[in-house]
Amino acid sequence: MTDVIWIVGAGRGIGRALALAWAEAGATVIASARDADDLNALRDAAAAMTGRVVPVPLDVTDRAATARALAEIEAAEGLPDAVVLNAGTHQSMPAARFDAAVFDRLFAVNVGGVVNGLEAVVPRFVARRRGRVVVVASVAGYVGLPTAAAYSGSKAALIALCESLRPDLAQFGVTVQVVNPGFVRTPLTDRNTFPMPFLMEPEAAAARIVRGMRGTGFEITFPRRFTWLMKALAMLPYPVLFALTRRTIPDEAKPAAVGVGDGPGEGRP
Ligand SMILES: NC(=O)c1ccc[n+]([C@@H]2O[C@H](COP(=O)([O-])OP(=O)(O)OC[C@H]3O[C@@H](n4cnc5c(N)ncnc54)[C@H](OP(=O)(O)O)[C@@H]3O)[C@@H](O)[C@H]2O)c1
Repeated sequence: MTDVIWIVGAGRGIGRALALAWAEAGATVIASARDADDLNALRDAAAAMTGRVVPVPLDVTDRAATARALAEIEAAEGLPDAVVLNAGTHQSMPAARFDAAVFDRLFAVNVGGVVNGLEAVVPRFVARRRGRVVVVASVAGYVGLPTAAAYSGSKAALIALCESLRPDLAQFGVTVQVVNPGFVRTPLTDRNTFPMPFLMEPEAAAARIVRGMRGTGFEITFPRRFTWLMKALAMLPYPVLFALTRRTIPDEAKPAAVGVGDGPGEGRP
């Protein structure tokens, strides 16, 4: 039997590499993202592979459209064996320029998109008593990183959400896995101007996710050296943690750049 795998956020980056890796392995990959041109290019790139890619354009922040997309997939290809909820985005925000709109945007995609995907697939997987739910979070969810309050917050929410679902859904034969990547070279990280330690290529990241999805372990995280460092960071006492993370504040988030001087302000305790 051919695996049917629905990947949401498959048009670029990690999701695209994962779609090609699964198509190479013989799977039928249902590929979703907003940009249909990206999905058609992905389908063409997989044309000579053992498996195939079926584009299903979708904005996963639209709950009703997500439910309709699953119904369409189920009618054409059957209920998927696995879903990978990978759509996500990042926008840095200097804390002094706190902007609720950044939270609205990031949480709508990073958390809301996952929640909408879950609402569509979970009841169907539970009814079948089989299924695999893979949520792409980030090591940025282990600790809150400077200028990433919205991104780290959204990814921490996903990790906790998956921890909550895992034992509950295991009772119904549904496996929940969380993917916590370090830095992977994609259009998203191409925008970063800071150094990205242990940067991985998307094909290597995809190979690690495929290997994880062939097993049942909860967390799929890579590259190991970097992600263990991040785990160790999360276990430090807070004064030590903040002494370290303070050093990663970029120049554009420092007092001189945000135009409020760098002396202690009136709000200082
Ligand atoms: N790259 C890294 O270093 C890294 C590290 C840790 C975690 N991650 C996580 O890994 C995931 C993929 O990251 P990436 O670097 O591959 O990002 P990317 O290159 O920006 O690709 C993101 C994909 O998600 C799709 N997407 C975005 N918003 C969507 C929406 N509303 N509905 C449906 N699809 C949507 C995009 O297509 P459209 O814009 O056409 O919709 C695109 O295909 C994200 O969740 C990210 O947070 C990445």
